[in-house]
Amino acid sequence: MSKLIIANWKTNPLNIAEGIELAKASDFPNVVICPPFPFLNAVGENLTNASLGTQDVFWGNLGPYTGEVSWRQLLELGVKYVIIGHSERRIYLKETDELINNKLIAALNAELKVILCVGEPREIRDKGINAAKNYVEQQLDKDLIGIENCKLKNENLLIAYEPIWAIGTGISDKLEDTIGMASFIKTLLASRYSLKPLVLYGGSVNAANAKEILSAKEIDGALVGGASLKPEEFQEIVKFSTALRAYAENLYIKHQS
Ligand code: PGA
Repeated sequence: MSKLIIANWKTNPLNIAEGIELAKASDFPNVVICPPFPFLNAVGENLTNASLGTQDVFWGNLGPYTGEVSWRQLLELGVKYVIIGHSERRIYLKETDELINNKLIAALNAELKVILCVGEPREIRDKGINAAKNYVEQQLDKDLIGIENCKLKNENLLIAYEPIWAIGTGISDKLEDTIGMASFIKTLLASRYSLKPLVLYGGSVNAANAKEILSAKEIDGALVGGASLKPEEFQEIVKFSTALRAYAENLYIKHQS
């Protein structure tokens, strides 16, 4: 089965030329590229295999919302995926579960594919994996309020489990714990909403650990931050994504020559 690899560029790179170069080197099937808003158009124009995504969305239509970017504008630009509720936005922008829920409902109603990020901080994980599961369950409860009443297609909701302490630290979660969490999320959403979402893992995914992570049947893909800015490393990760293997190796060789 093919796995989905999401490249979250965060606030990188510096300019459009670098963004285009990075996009071209990351343009594989089953890859989603999420550049910063200023590069969205240029990156979109340079993708033929990968899909275009964003790192955020605003819930309102066109209107008086200074500084925000509406789902309407994203649709116009050919955006297919939106990351919602990333821990960096929860921390630095003080995004609450209520805001995240508003964004999620609007994006689902717009038929965008939502990558909802959840995950616990270090002090919770230090209490054990069950404490982490409780934390994630509470986030999901709040972030998914009202989804029964919106235009919900199963394939449009994806969950990214990203333990905060694993993001950008070089220390990824233990595989058995990630697998346990992915199964927990799947069971929860099946019993509560009859949903079978893809569950991705994020947090220091790199060329060295991707194979092991992506080989687990419970984990449907990866949300990649730092390593998505290094083309060769990112291509290695894509290569491990099983069904893409032959295709990606072929493109990889072409890219190198
Ligand atoms: P990282 O970031 O791969 O640099 O840990 C992942 C993320 O924040 O989505």
